Amino acid sequence: MRIICVAGARPNYMKVKPVMDALEERGADVILVHTGQHYDAAMNDVFFEDLGIRRPDHYLGVGSGSHAVQTARVMTAFEPLVEQVRPDIVVVVGDVNSTMACALVAAKSPARLAHVEAGLRSGDWTMPEEVNRVVTDRVSDYLFAPSPDAVVNLRTEGFRDEQVHLVGNVMVDTLLANLERAKASDVLSRLGLTAGGYGLVTLHRPANVDDPDVLRPLLAALEEVAQHCPLVLPAHPRAAGQLRDGRMSDRVQIVPPAGYLDFVALQASAKLVLTDSGGIQEETTVLGVPCLTLRDNTERPITVDEGTNQLVGRDPARIVKAALEVLALGWPRGPAHR
Ligand code: UD1
Repeated sequence: MRIICVAGARPNYMKVKPVMDALEERGADVILVHTGQHYDAAMNDVFFEDLGIRRPDHYLGVGSGSHAVQTARVMTAFEPLVEQVRPDIVVVVGDVNSTMACALVAAKSPARLAHVEAGLRSGDWTMPEEVNRVVTDRVSDYLFAPSPDAVVNLRTEGFRDEQVHLVGNVMVDTLLANLERAKASDVLSRLGLTAGGYGLVTLHRPANVDDPDVLRPLLAALEEVAQHCPLVLPAHPRAAGQLRDGRMSDRVQIVPPAGYLDFVALQASAKLVLTDSGGIQEETTVLGVPCLTLRDNTERPITVDEGTNQLVGRDPARIVKAALEVLALGWPRGPAHR
């Protein structure tokens, strides 16, 4: 069986690795295709090294662009490759533009299409990822759901029972497989941090970082939280310029994007995490670290049900109040520490 596995952007790598390993263990001929949506060493190469992913068999080199440009470039580069390789199955993971673009190509080819992380829904159509999730699922033959809520979403949308498989969360498989190695990271001492003595922040959603009128109050809220607990913020390239211009005090340490092992280590020892990411809501849940999500909705409600994650939106007063409450409750907290 010849299977193409697609990866394109940072949050894909930790999802594709255990799937490739499992397929190869079962004798599949796995071909790894990297679209090139992410390309900086800090967004890409370090993850391949940390996770032990082999070099991609094909690199499409699409780079950055508007949604339409990026999606179109992936599609026009991926289609001839699918015609040449003639895979039995194409596997896509997650919800980035590369996921949806390759899904559309595969759906119109003789190959069957499998989506890993199917069925997540935020209900927020302003998120590009929501469009990517719904479109990818719609054209998939096999829908691999990470959680029971995702299965319910798919059944509600009319997918047939035999298409939907509750398989668990592959990103969590990777987290647990690498936790001990991550704990050996020296990132805390490199950044002058002590375990349990800092908050970790990530911000990269277009809705939060692209408009200075939205970002400014968010940074003011972070500054206020930082007066109670120093913060470290590995900056996504999309937001790095605006964050630098934000002139934060030295209580908010803005650092380059972290590699996989370093970032897991930073999460595991944080007193609190503030984020607008999807995957970090899940990783903090497994690590038992309190997470405040700077969004009004989540496609990962299981993280809220488990008690580690709170949706605090973008209102600065609400963010600060929730953060101070979490800081007052002490550390550690959450399921993994109970
Ligand atoms: C993408 C995903 C998002 C995911 C995020 C993780 C989509 C629609 N969004 O958002 O779901 O959470 O990845 O990082 O697919 N850039 C670089 N170097 C890189 C990559 C990007 O400098 O290696 C800069 C470029 O200026 C680029 C911008 O970041 O225009 C945005 O990159 P893009 O891949 O379009 O979206 P992300 O914001 O990274």
